[in-house]
Amino acid sequence: MKDLILQVQGVSKVFGGLQALKDVTFDLPAGQIMGLIGPNGAGKTTLFNVINGVYAPSAGRILFRGEDITHRRTYELAHMGMARTHQIVKPLNDLSVLENVMLGACYGQHNEALPNAEKTAREVLEFVGLAERADQLAKSLNVAQKKRLEMARALAARPSLLLLDEVLAGLNPSEIAGMVETVKAIREQGITIIMIEHVMHAIMNVSDRLIVLDYGQQIAEGTPEEIVNNPQVIEAYLGDPEIANRLMQEEN
Ligand SMILES: Nc1ncnc2c1ncn2[C@@H]1O[C@H](COP(=O)(O)OP(=O)(O)OP(=O)(O)O)[C@@H](O)[C@H]1O
Ligand SMILES: [Mg+2]
Repeated sequence: MKDLILQVQGVSKVFGGLQALKDVTFDLPAGQIMGLIGPNGAGKTTLFNVINGVYAPSAGRILFRGEDITHRRTYELAHMGMARTHQIVKPLNDLSVLENVMLGACYGQHNEALPNAEKTAREVLEFVGLAERADQLAKSLNVAQKKRLEMARALAARPSLLLLDEVLAGLNPSEIAGMVETVKAIREQGITIIMIEHVMHAIMNVSDRLIVLDYGQQIAEGTPEEIVNNPQVIEAYLGDPEIANRLMQEEN
C-alpha cells in the first residue's frame, strides 16, 4: 500500500433523487497523472467536489496520504496538501493577478505570511508564464490566461495532489499544447495530478492511467491504450473506434 496518495473506496453521492456517483473505487499512486473522463453529467466534477471536501459523500470513504479525510473540510485539505482548479474559473476579479495567487500561498499547505506568499506567487507566476501580468486585475485576463491563473493559485498552495477540472476547455490548439507541457512540468516537480478533460488527444497523451465515469459509475480503468480500445468506453463516450484512435493520434 506504500506510496498511495489517494484511496477512494466505495464512494457514492446522491443529490435528491439523482445518483451522481455510485460506488467509485480506485487507488492513486503518488507521482502519476490520472485522467478522469466521461460524458457530460457523468459525475466527474462531483467526484472532485467529494474528494476536495465540498460535499460529504453519501457512502464510502476517502484516504489522503493514508489518513481518512472523508469528512474533512476544503480548507483543512488545503493545509494537508490538496489543491484544485475549477471548471468555471473563479478569479477574484478586482484583485491583481499577483494577489489572487498570493491567496493560494496564504491558505495553502504552509500558511505563508505575506512577504513569503508574494515570493511564492511570483515564482509560480513565472512557472505558468503569467509573470508579466502580475499587476493586472484578474478580470482583464483572457480565458487561457484565467485558466493559468487558476492553476497558479492552486500551485501556490504547494500541493502534493492537484485536481485539474477541464483546464484545456476553451483553449485553441497552441494554447492546449502549451498547457499540456505545463501539466507535464508540474508532474516533474513530484506533484500527483488527477485531470478531468474532454480534449481526448491531450488527456491520452498526458495520463499514466485513466478512469472513465458514465452515469456516476466507473465503467473502466486502465492505460490510455486499454481505454481507447475498451468497447464499453467506446459505446458510452468515445463513439466510433476509428475516430477514437484518430483523436488520440492528433497530437503526434
Ligand atoms: N449541487 C448539486 N445539486 C444537484 N445536482 C447536482 C449538483 N452537482 C451536480 N449535480 C448533478 O450531478 C450530475 C453530475 O454532474 P457533474 O457536474 O459532476 O458532471 P461532469 O461529469 O463534471 O459533467 P461535465 O463534463 O459537463 O462537466 C449532473 O446530473 C448534475 O446535474
Ligand atoms: Mg464537470
